[in-house]
Amino acid sequence: MARWPPLLSLLLLLLSSPTSSLSPPTSTTSTTISPTQSPSSSPSPPSTPSSSSSSTLDPKQLRALQSLNVPTSTDPCSQPPSLHSATVCDAAKPFRHLLSLRLSNCSADLSLSITALSSLSSLTSFQFINCPTAPVRFPSSLSTNLRSFTCLNSLRKLTGVWLSRFPNLTDLTVSGVTINASGPSIILGNMKKLESLTISRANLTGFLPKHWHLNLTHIDLSANLLRGKIPSSLTLLENLQSLNLSSNGLNGEIPSSIGDLLSLQNVSLSSNSLSGSIPDSMAAIPGLVNLDLGSNQLNGTIPKFIADMRDLKYLNLEKNNFNGVMPFNASFIKRLVVFKIGSNINLCYNHSTISPKVKLGIAPCDKHGLPLSPPPSKDSGGGGGGGGDSIGGNSPVDDYSLGDESNSKSKQHTHGPSKVVLGVAIGLSSVVFLIIFLVLISKCCR
Ligand SMILES: *[C@@H]1O[C@H](CO)[C@@H](O)[C@H](O)[C@H]1NC(C)=O
Ligand SMILES: *[C@@H]1O[C@H](CO)[C@@H](O)[C@H](O)[C@H]1NC(C)=O
Ligand SMILES: *[C@@H]1O[C@H](CO)[C@@H](O)[C@H](O)[C@H]1NC(C)=O
Ligand SMILES: *[C@@H]1O[C@H](CO)[C@@H](O)[C@H](O)[C@H]1NC(C)=O
Ligand SMILES: *[C@@H]1O[C@H](CO)[C@@H](O)[C@H](O)[C@H]1NC(C)=O
Ligand SMILES: *[C@@H]1O[C@H](CO)[C@@H](O)[C@H](O)[C@H]1NC(C)=O
Ligand SMILES: *[C@@H]1O[C@H](CO)[C@@H](O)[C@H](O)[C@H]1NC(C)=O
Ligand SMILES: *[C@@H]1O[C@H](CO)[C@@H](O)[C@H](O)[C@H]1NC(C)=O
Ligand SMILES: *[C@@H]1O[C@H](CO)[C@@H](O)[C@H](O)[C@H]1NC(C)=O
Ligand SMILES: *[C@@H]1O[C@H](CO)[C@@H](O)[C@H](O)[C@H]1NC(C)=O
Repeated sequence: MARWPPLLSLLLLLLSSPTSSLSPPTSTTSTTISPTQSPSSSPSPPSTPSSSSSSTLDPKQLRALQSLNVPTSTDPCSQPPSLHSATVCDAAKPFRHLLSLRLSNCSADLSLSITALSSLSSLTSFQFINCPTAPVRFPSSLSTNLRSFTCLNSLRKLTGVWLSRFPNLTDLTVSGVTINASGPSIILGNMKKLESLTISRANLTGFLPKHWHLNLTHIDLSANLLRGKIPSSLTLLENLQSLNLSSNGLNGEIPSSIGDLLSLQNVSLSSNSLSGSIPDSMAAIPGLVNLDLGSNQLNGTIPKFIADMRDLKYLNLEKNNFNGVMPFNASFIKRLVVFKIGSNINLCYNHSTISPKVKLGIAPCDKHGLPLSPPPSKDSGGGGGGGGDSIGGNSPVDDYSLGDESNSKSKQHTHGPSKVVLGVAIGLSSVVFLIIFLVLISKCCR
């Protein structure tokens, strides 16, 4: 009997190998390399006076860069970005000026001097990346000129007041540095032109602002210590494309007017303490791509309109208190890149529209639309078996092996050709087995 499996697999192998080798060689359309961008011949800046002063940059700014440990042996205005710095200059004559400066991976002994910063007030963009130097008060000539300010894992520790001194920013990005502030309002109050706001992983405390400047297109205040409700004034931001308030201590309900955010593409409110149900108004948002409401205390039924959102790619509703029948069918779930629905104990799926082979982390429904409890309950006689382990969800791997007819039916989901192969293989191998058996019989019973 032990010969059965090896024989079978051998036959399967023999039968399947010719077909697999038949797969057509994918026609690799050899894309001819067009010499539009020839490799070398870098566009050197036109006629740099390379005699005495090897740089076209304003000498004051050159000294400032030197004090910031930026190498200046070659012209900073024509240097490619390095691991430690990147610059963009204007085209002024006789001297150029810095428009953009990125300092990254700074050495530990770097210190910012007021003199250096004062001579850099032509900057409109200033980035600190992995530069744990001590912050100093920026001269106002610099801070009012800046349009974009970035601080990633840099400047050790900031205050709300320090950040509030950039009135002309359109883009503020701060992440991975503690901000001591009473709340976001003190930072944002003066930034009337702000379009993109990121303050994440900053241990920022307090409440979300009641007043917002209407040009905001991106808000990311994720991974802080914000609490209180999401103010409905947020839904006046008709240009808002992305909203990330995940991993805070927000509570209360999602504003019922959230559907006013008609430009919204990505929204994450995950890992808070939000309650209530998904607002009906959300049906009006036409281009939602990413909807993440996981790890809250949301309840009620999951609205059907989510299944009709054409652009949706990422959907996370796991770890909530949703109930009723999940409104999604298999073809909808297949279309998504990420789908998480597990750990909603009162939610179930209709097993006549979704095969139990799709591991969802929720139970199948009974005929009343209630979750079937797993087999080791009182009457384990009848229906269908529980729905088992989770993908994405982190419910413990309850392996209620689905052991009755309803399950064996769904297991026949093999593709057509391999069914035939299997049939032939079983037929052939039983013939072989029979022959061996007869030979053995004839040998021992002579
Ligand atoms: C900082 O240095 C690391 C290697 O030590 C490098 O991978 C990284 O790209 C650098 N960061 C920047 C912003 O250049
Ligand atoms: C920056 O904002 C201030 C007001 O805080 C304004 O007076 C000034 O003109 C602005 N500067 C630029 C360069 O836009
Ligand atoms: C936020 O606070 C926690 C706990 O006090 C600390 O471990 C963490 O490093 C802080 N994060 C930042 C970015 O300062
Ligand atoms: C934050 O700032 C306040 C005053 O602005 C100060 O009393 C408090 O000690 C600061 N907190 C920390 C952790 O530095
Ligand atoms: C908002 O953006 C528009 C278009 O980008 C611009 O014309 C307008 O001046 C901005 N408003 C403010 C207050 O910056
Ligand atoms: C939305 O998220 C996707 C994937 O994470 C990203 O590619 C896209 O740029 C985001 N769109 C906006 C408007 O932030
Ligand atoms: C929201 O922020 C978190 C943490 O910063 C991040 O992991 C997540 O990808 C963001 N989600 C969206 C939709 O931008
Ligand atoms: C949802 O929870 C709220 C309390 O957070 C409760 O008032 C409401 O009745 C619940 N709704 C449903 C449908 O369970
Ligand atoms: C699955 O659901 C989508 C969206 O609700 C619907 O358009 C589609 O017809 C359904 N497909 C099947 C096979 O029921
Ligand atoms: C499950 O789907 C079938 C076919 O669409 C339907 O007849 C049945 O009522 C559904 N069951 C529940 C509990 O919704």
